[in-house]
Amino acid sequence: MFKTAAMAAKEKSEYLVFFVNGRKVVERNADPETMLLSYIREKLRLTGTKYGCGGGGCGACTVMVSQYQRQSKRILHFSVNACLLPICLLHGAAVTTVEGVGNTKNRIHPVQERIAKANGSQCGFCTPGMVMSMYTLLRNNPEPTMEDIMEALGGNLCRCTGYRPILDGYKTFCVAENCCQDKRNGECCLKEEMSGQDCENGPELFNKDDLLPLDPTQELIFPPELIMMAETQEQKSLAFRGERMTWISPVSLEELVQLKSSFPKAPLVIGNTNIGPEIKFKAILHPVLISPTRVSELYRVTQTTEGISIGAGCSLSVIKELLGMVVSSLPEEKTEIFRALLQQLRNLGGQQIRNMASLGGNIVSAFPNSDLNPILAAGNCTISVLSQGGRKEIALNENFFVGFGKTTLKPDEIVVSVFIPHSKRGEFVRAFRQAPRQENAFPTVISGMRVQFRDGGNIIEDLSIFYGGVGPCTISARKTCQEIIGRPWNEEVMGDAYRLLLDEILLPPSAPGGMVEFRRALTLSFLFKFYLQMLQKLREMDVSLVDIPGEFSSAIRPFPGKIEPSYQEFQEVAQGQPGQDPVGRPTMHRSAISQATGEAVYCDDIPRTEGELFMVMVTSTRPYAKLINIDISEALKVPGVEDVITAKDIPGKKFRTFTGIDEELLAENEVSCVGQIVCAVVADTRQHAKRGAAAVKITYEDLHPQIFTIEEAIEKKSFFKPERKIEKGNTKEAFEKADQVLEGEIRIGGQEHFYMETQSMLVIPIQEEKEYKVYLSTQHPTYTQESIAETLGIPSNRVSCHVKRLGGAFGGKVTKTSVIASITAVAAWKTGRAVRCVLERGDDMLITGGRHPTLGRYKIGFMNNGRIIAADVHYYTNAGNTGDESVLVIEKMLLHMDNSYNIPNLRGLSTACRTNLPSNTAFRGFGVPQCMLVTESWINDVAMKLGCSTEKVREINMYNGVSRTHYKQEFDPHNLLRCWSECQEKASFFNRRIAAEEFNKQNRWKKRGIAMVPIKYGIAFAEGFLNQAAALVHIYKDGSVLVSHGGIEMGQGIHTKIQQVASRELKIPPSLIHISETSTNVVPNTCPSAASYGTDANGMAVKDACRTLLQRLEPIISENPKGTWQKWITTAFFQKISLSATGFYRGFDLCMDWEKEEGRPYAYFTYGVSCTEVEIDCLTGDHKNIRADIIMDIGRSINPSVDIGQIEGAFVQGLGLYTMEELKFSPSGVLYTRGPAQYKIPAVCDVPLKFNVYLLAGSQNPHAIYSSKGIGEPVLFLGSSVFFAIKDAVSATRKEHGLSGPFTLNSPATAEKICLACSDCFTQMIPVVEPGSFCPWAINV
Ligand SMILES: Cc1cc2nc3c(=O)[nH]c(=O)nc-3n(C[C@H](O)[C@H](O)[C@H](O)COP(=O)(O)OP(=O)(O)OC[C@H]3O[C@@H](n4cnc5c(N)ncnc54)[C@H](O)[C@@H]3O)c2cc1C
Ligand code: FES
Ligand code: FES
Repeated sequence: MFKTAAMAAKEKSEYLVFFVNGRKVVERNADPETMLLSYIREKLRLTGTKYGCGGGGCGACTVMVSQYQRQSKRILHFSVNACLLPICLLHGAAVTTVEGVGNTKNRIHPVQERIAKANGSQCGFCTPGMVMSMYTLLRNNPEPTMEDIMEALGGNLCRCTGYRPILDGYKTFCVAENCCQDKRNGECCLKEEMSGQDCENGPELFNKDDLLPLDPTQELIFPPELIMMAETQEQKSLAFRGERMTWISPVSLEELVQLKSSFPKAPLVIGNTNIGPEIKFKAILHPVLISPTRVSELYRVTQTTEGISIGAGCSLSVIKELLGMVVSSLPEEKTEIFRALLQQLRNLGGQQIRNMASLGGNIVSAFPNSDLNPILAAGNCTISVLSQGGRKEIALNENFFVGFGKTTLKPDEIVVSVFIPHSKRGEFVRAFRQAPRQENAFPTVISGMRVQFRDGGNIIEDLSIFYGGVGPCTISARKTCQEIIGRPWNEEVMGDAYRLLLDEILLPPSAPGGMVEFRRALTLSFLFKFYLQMLQKLREMDVSLVDIPGEFSSAIRPFPGKIEPSYQEFQEVAQGQPGQDPVGRPTMHRSAISQATGEAVYCDDIPRTEGELFMVMVTSTRPYAKLINIDISEALKVPGVEDVITAKDIPGKKFRTFTGIDEELLAENEVSCVGQIVCAVVADTRQHAKRGAAAVKITYEDLHPQIFTIEEAIEKKSFFKPERKIEKGNTKEAFEKADQVLEGEIRIGGQEHFYMETQSMLVIPIQEEKEYKVYLSTQHPTYTQESIAETLGIPSNRVSCHVKRLGGAFGGKVTKTSVIASITAVAAWKTGRAVRCVLERGDDMLITGGRHPTLGRYKIGFMNNGRIIAADVHYYTNAGNTGDESVLVIEKMLLHMDNSYNIPNLRGLSTACRTNLPSNTAFRGFGVPQCMLVTESWINDVAMKLGCSTEKVREINMYNGVSRTHYKQEFDPHNLLRCWSECQEKASFFNRRIAAEEFNKQNRWKKRGIAMVPIKYGIAFAEGFLNQAAALVHIYKDGSVLVSHGGIEMGQGIHTKIQQVASRELKIPPSLIHISETSTNVVPNTCPSAASYGTDANGMAVKDACRTLLQRLEPIISENPKGTWQKWITTAFFQKISLSATGFYRGFDLCMDWEKEEGRPYAYFTYGVSCTEVEIDCLTGDHKNIRADIIMDIGRSINPSVDIGQIEGAFVQGLGLYTMEELKFSPSGVLYTRGPAQYKIPAVCDVPLKFNVYLLAGSQNPHAIYSSKGIGEPVLFLGSSVFFAIKDAVSATRKEHGLSGPFTLNSPATAEKICLACSDCFTQMIPVVEPGSFCPWAINV
């Protein structure tokens, strides 16, 4: 038998057979390096499945795999990440992609329809993945609960929607989950909270009554051929040979053992969730891979009287299901370990990961923060190991885990099974974990603890405590345990245990991963939780008469977790508005259905053109250095590599100028940050280009000083000019008159855009007359067109930029895209071939920068009644190595520093610091989210100093009556005040504040906080010329209309709103109107789609064009008023009336005079208020978003669905900014956080359990189209209400320790910061290491 496998390794490749969407695929040259994602996208041209991260962390690539199990004769369906699934694993399987679920040609599937109709698809890039996760769930369970849905979507990220609409759409598959189906006492479930409003009476965003029914009989069947294949074909070893790797798949354990002994270095590939990312991100090459997934012994489960033996190959999902069944069938006392493992399995990775990842893989991968190993170790589990030397049992303990990713397993040894024993009477096992996000995130610290009490008493017979995340591997607190074994379970003993633990579990101050104090504190607080849990157990068993004090039980009570019905309130259109007129109605995003079916085309979905090349960037690895040599010789030898593009190749301008500051496209003599683009490799395939890029060798000579932090920049006066200043009144005098003066500072960390679609472009040279066609994902096609033209030294009229849609942008696709597109154009020019560049997630995060980290230093003068009379604030932003838009960002900061408050004497200074980090750029809110957090922090400080509520100080200082801003722009804050009072009322603020205080009195270790935050946000560009827009509208002879305008569809729904505008103006249904793309050769000289101004400007331009057309048609319509649109158009054509018109909107002539410090930089203001309540766990720093209510004045909404979508999405993005998204840089300026594994954006578990949005009724806005208001950016800042609610909760616990008065909580308020700010007895025990006495792992930039 063995010979077969060994021979197979040497023989030629077998045919790989699997099915995709019901069609048979026979691959004769299956390459083990090919993942399913690239195979289906590139080879099968099924582009509905998206690339978002390539590492299993985002879910954009989710597909369903179905497999026939020969033994059980069952067909299993499970969701997987196609980016991590080698095609070689698919032999005999059936894959369903989003295209196989439904399409617009035949029939869309309810799972596609419901996400679309519920407005759960904005940019749509995450949508196919969401659809597939939900589809798989429904295939397995057609009547899921809300918990099932949350679990199924836990591994899918969405950057646009805030998840609420996705959940609402999919909630319709649950039985009796929806509002008004969930009637308590015959009352609507929302009614009691809604101050008398009945949701049954309000209009709804989508109609739940006309949804397609779910009909499981309509689904694709599992291919009978695969069942035949499994049942009848001889099971034999398979081998697939690729360019660099060979894949061997044996069928028997014996063969497997032999193979492993022949190729001891070859890894076993089961789920590929560790080995895959390792090969990909660390560029590790394994010439041989052994896949044991067909070896049945690795999947065997045996139950004995002692416990359960689980095959090491079983996936974590299978184990979860299995343990769930076992737990319900065995007496509770036997299942302690099983239940602890189950708890871990609920949070480990996302569903797709759990479906692939194996138990053996998790153990052998020996991650320092594995979710399972500390529990398995504490639970005395063993593994059964086989090699040619025989079988042996090994205990999973500290002797087995010996280092980072290392165990004592020998290279030729295979873990066959894992034995998990039953627990004994009096034995208890618990698991504790704290992660940067509650779901789909590796834990920061994890612990498994087990205690055995002696003879039904409280004496510790045996104890084991294991930790992960506090060292290079799973470690044991054996010494501590030994010291307290034999002693009773009481407070005194625990006191000793904490001290012993502190001595035993050490973490050096510069330990990899940082967060040293926090991690050490967690080791103690987990033990405290365990102590309380066991105390409770002993009480239940009547062993102990000691009750846990009521307020202490909060330490072990989980957060509330049930998603509650949410409410969206908006105004119905006026009575009498014609039915055809869609303006003001909640219509679905116009591309939502095609996004949900995967038919929507994004840049990288465009088919390859003949001879097309792929480009990969080579970036600097030094923060500041002279470029001594760029050696491309090895790169040119890599198969498929065509060329390497350096600065010398640029035929035209080698730099790009923005706000007067030059930025090199490709570094020529010097680099000034890690991640700066030095050169680019073009090759026939992505893989070859990547290998070529890795082969480029650059020699540097370091330069100094190297500046990374804002403080270093201040010290070295390293600034981009100009700095900005603004002053109203006389702060100096006012400070003297103030009753009190306080000073403080706050840092706000940066933020990664994390648009789901990374930077993408395709440049096609048209050889004639130097023309270039560019397809790309940008918010500013005109700017890219100009950049490419300048770079190539040709006029702009030879370059046309085309944008169909963007998979998200958030400001990150304005300037940075033009740099990358210009380099791609140089490659196209030099090679004369089409060149595509799609950044990998890690490169995108490294190269393109994000939101500016900011430091705000302030001095505030205030009266004892809470009136603030003077504020002097200096904002420093970390701009990075180039100017980009930084000066504009710091200007906008100063213009918004007042937020909603009338401070009579206000002085602001702002400075963009030049550092050796990648250049930062525009990001939704453009500096406002940073500057206003500073404002709200000093408001909060004043309140804390005065000992009154922050909301009171906010109210006292709020603008009232027609007012002028500090730059003298007049405005009426009436609607701001309305939002404030309506929010108080709708959120039942006062009652809930009292309830929170009551909760806090009764709960020592959990605290609730509540905060209300307002915003006044200026709309339009302060640079008046950017407010113009143009449009071109064609009416074709059949009456169909094609609208083109300068706005970019990036998910915000601009095309949907424009379609509504054209429909109203032309008085025709939206179905007659099409918007194809935005292109510079149709509408020239466009302005960026940014500043929340896209619909305002482009809507007016389209309106103008439509009115021109209608005027031309007027005589024909008057002559035949009863005629049809088609008839009028035909007549017009025959009468030789032009059916094409341009439209133009001049926009506001806004400006800001920085010399005089006054101006009118904004057309108007959008107002809003949000109220958020959170609960924090003081012991771990974890928090739960309990409820958020947002009320926004957006005038008369053109489309409530789209606008509410923007509000929810921006709020959740803000929540991410202020509470969890943390960029980490090494002390030498290297970005650590380069993917979703390290950088956590909000996931479905972060949505407030109750999330209500109200659009202020009766608001008008004379300054924008149809009285609407811009909404894309303002709400992001309202996410800070989560931050201030957290701060409120932290201050409640601090007060209990006698710590009153202002305290600094920097943003983001991560678990680490919350825990340390709570300053409880455990954090106090951690010795503080003097800053400066060690080199930290990460720095505060
Ligand atoms: C996005 C993402 C999120 C994740 N989140 C978490 C998390 O929150 N918590 C957590 O604990 N883990 C997490 N993981 C890790 C995941 O659980 C492990 O990668 C997985 O369990 C490994 O199993 P696998 O079958 O995929 O291993 P593979 O990648 O196939 O193999 C991994 C290694 O184990 C070896 N190996 C596998 N099986 C055996 C065996 N039977 N005998 C000997 N050697 C063997 C292989 O040789 C290889 O070196 C995450 C992973 C990803 C990609
Ligand atoms: S692309 Fe596969 S999970 Fe992100
Ligand atoms: S709609 Fe989810 S990422 Fe854009």
